[in-house]
Amino acid sequence: MPQPLTIGILGAGRVGTAVGRQAVRAGHTVKIATSRPAEEIKLLTEVIVPGATAVNRDELRGSDIIVLAVPLHKYRSIDASVLQGHVVIDTMNYWAPVDGIMEEFETGRSTSEVIADFLGDVRLVKTLNHIGYGDLEVDSYPAGDTKRRALAVASDDEAAKQLVAEFVDSLGYDAVDAGPLSAGRTYENGTEIFNGRHTAEQMRALLDQCQQVLTGASA
Ligand SMILES: NC(=O)c1ccc[n+]([C@@H]2O[C@H](COP(=O)([O-])OP(=O)(O)OC[C@H]3O[C@@H](n4cnc5c(N)ncnc54)[C@H](OP(=O)(O)O)[C@@H]3O)[C@@H](O)[C@H]2O)c1
Repeated sequence: MPQPLTIGILGAGRVGTAVGRQAVRAGHTVKIATSRPAEEIKLLTEVIVPGATAVNRDELRGSDIIVLAVPLHKYRSIDASVLQGHVVIDTMNYWAPVDGIMEEFETGRSTSEVIADFLGDVRLVKTLNHIGYGDLEVDSYPAGDTKRRALAVASDDEAAKQLVAEFVDSLGYDAVDAGPLSAGRTYENGTEIFNGRHTAEQMRALLDQCQQVLTGASA
């Protein structure tokens, strides 16, 4: 069993609670916060993520990893001060029918590059965005199982990416290095990787293909 981590989760909706349950199962310490006081999500957390603790968002400071699981159109309401200096996972996706048209996400950059600019001094890693919240628990398999699914991991910070890759592995998935944060475009909404079930080998091939298409398109 890998080293247990302290995982902070910002957002107690579908994704935040699914990641929380899976992280508790993997033996990590899990703290969950929203924009509201801890007291208001205490019961929900006890019932929906047994073993996790509801906290005020300030108390996420010091977590080994903080998972952002907030609707993308609300990103400007995130209290970035709490995240400074931390390894942060960006699970958020841009989907115009739900988020509304947001010009900053219509430029062809990875949504995570925009989020990184907004957050400031944060070691941002993009992953867990391309698996359905309902799949996260049922598709988990131990390392080496032939049914094991892969998840892509991208970051400009190699050490942060490595730590998150270990966390992803502990959740029951093979982490595949997708490269820098800009490569996150290859597994955003509308790509073949998004929501598909792929082994690590298939994921590597798809990431290469998508990167070539994107590089060709922008040349
Ligand atoms: N649906 C999927 O299967 C899936 C899979 C992977 C990734 N994603 C992405 O994950 C993100 C979250 O989706 P979701 O379906 O989990 O959303 P959701 O169910 O609507 O939950 C959002 C949570 O974020 C909290 N929140 C909102 N603004 C906040 C803020 N400023 N600070 C702290 N917490 C805040 C909300 O609580 P309060 O409003 O009370 O603060 C709520 O607990 C989206 O970007 C989505 O695209 C979705």
